[in-house]
Amino acid sequence: EYLKAGNEPKKENRSKKIVLGFSQLGAESDWRRANSQSIKNAALEAGIELIFLEADQKQDMQIHAIRSFITQGVDVIAFSPVVEGGWDEVLEEAKMAGIPVLLSDRAIKPDDNSLYATFIGSDFLEEGRRAARWLVEKKIAKKSVNVIELEGTIDSAPAIDRKKGFAEIIANYPQFQVIYSASGDFTEAGGQEIMKAALAIYGNQIHVVYAHNDDMALGAIKAIEEFGLRPGKDILIVSVDATAAAFKAMMAGKLNSTVECNPLLGPQLMQAVKSLMAGRQLPMRIITSEGVFSAETARQDYLHRRY
Ligand code: AHR
Repeated sequence: EYLKAGNEPKKENRSKKIVLGFSQLGAESDWRRANSQSIKNAALEAGIELIFLEADQKQDMQIHAIRSFITQGVDVIAFSPVVEGGWDEVLEEAKMAGIPVLLSDRAIKPDDNSLYATFIGSDFLEEGRRAARWLVEKKIAKKSVNVIELEGTIDSAPAIDRKKGFAEIIANYPQFQVIYSASGDFTEAGGQEIMKAALAIYGNQIHVVYAHNDDMALGAIKAIEEFGLRPGKDILIVSVDATAAAFKAMMAGKLNSTVECNPLLGPQLMQAVKSLMAGRQLPMRIITSEGVFSAETARQDYLHRRY
């Protein structure tokens, strides 16, 4: 469908080195840094010339980067959209220029699949459900369990879907209620700040923290310790990503569980770029397969981790 729209790769570019323009949304978390590294390494390995621009979590910077790729006449554009909405205009411009676009990690809304060739990334909705399933399976011996939710970047696909997936599962368990939620922008400092604010209001009435990523969970751990409570014991913490730092926190007994979100998307992305340039049709969604880890087996699982 997408290739039939008249924006197939230019013939004259097929024999030269492929040039890929990648707009990365920022460097806000360990996950993101591992993702950027994976893309750079994979491009090098695949012999693809990569123009990599970072956007400090700002949509206007990403739009500017995509426009500069169009002006430079790259063969393929890929980007990780900081927020879901507001991309139609620039993606139309890429389409008009005949440059195919790939979405990496985060999705866009409205999901107009005439504007991109494929999405490569995780199922964020399922990650939210997995975090909630882990929690309900803990069988906490309390009539009422108060949860603090540390949300990711406002209007971003992972923040929206992880919230939705989590809410969908706990809706069936009236024992759990989210009593406070706010955005920590996927950063450790943001997580620490919200957790501090939540503790100031609810103190030891907080039983669980659900963080949309590990960095915010690590910030929350600091805030909980500063408040004089024990993270992982007085307050259970479940987060998303499964980074090395999260494993260390689980091994220290300060984080209880982390749901995997794999940042190593580089090889799949380069594969998709090559397929596209060879004129092959791509599936609309390429979803990475992921697991859930907990403190009990962290030491063993850590031996097999790659980020
Ligand atoms: O889009 C993926 C999310 O973005 C990761 O879970 C988070 O750590 C990152 O900032």
